[in-house]
Amino acid sequence: MPPNVLALETHLVRLSEASVLAVHVLGGGIWVGVMVFSIFVLHPRAEQHFKRDADFEDFIFTVVHGARWKVVAGMVGILASGVGLSLWPGHGIVSEGPTAGLWLGIYAAKLALFGLAAGCFAYVSWVLWPRRTFATPEELPAIKALFWRVGVVMILANATNLVLGIAAHVWRS
Ligand code: HEM
Repeated sequence: MPPNVLALETHLVRLSEASVLAVHVLGGGIWVGVMVFSIFVLHPRAEQHFKRDADFEDFIFTVVHGARWKVVAGMVGILASGVGLSLWPGHGIVSEGPTAGLWLGIYAAKLALFGLAAGCFAYVSWVLWPRRTFATPEELPAIKALFWRVGVVMILANATNLVLGIAAHVWRS
């Protein structure tokens, strides 16, 4: 193969690697960032701003309305790019060598944490939101507290996943 064709091929492979990494790392980072902003800034500040609970509920529902399938698309992107990385030379599954056990343990933990975060999202989106929308004023405080707790679990799971991804890469050899 002529050297310039070979060089072009190498650049294209590297560009694809960078794109898969970008989807994975940006997707995960955005998920963590948006959740932190929502739970620790938007919800408490907006709650202070509105005098009536009903107005706050209207506002927050308007903000999140239509977000479900965008988040699902982001989660699919993170999962698909994670599977892509698992097969990519230089990022893929480490099954031999001194750090194989550690790497595989981290990888299993990453999958489990992703499952936990995705499960929490499904619970919030399909169970808690409908319950919140139709809640009586007496039921609302308990539902809001549950929202907060599930949100914190998602933030911890995703932030740990991010740290474990970096650790897996650094300790792969
Ligand atoms: C919220 C979820 C996730 C976040 C925030 C996240 C974040 C990261 C980060 C920051 C890296 C480091 C990139 C590098 O330098 O290679 C990484 C690597 C990686 N992630 Fe994830 N990840 C998530 C979910 C997943 C899932 C579900 C899978 C598997 C399907 C996965 C598989 C991998 C693999 C194979 C690597 C490469 C490790 C290596 O280079 O040794 N990740 N992840």
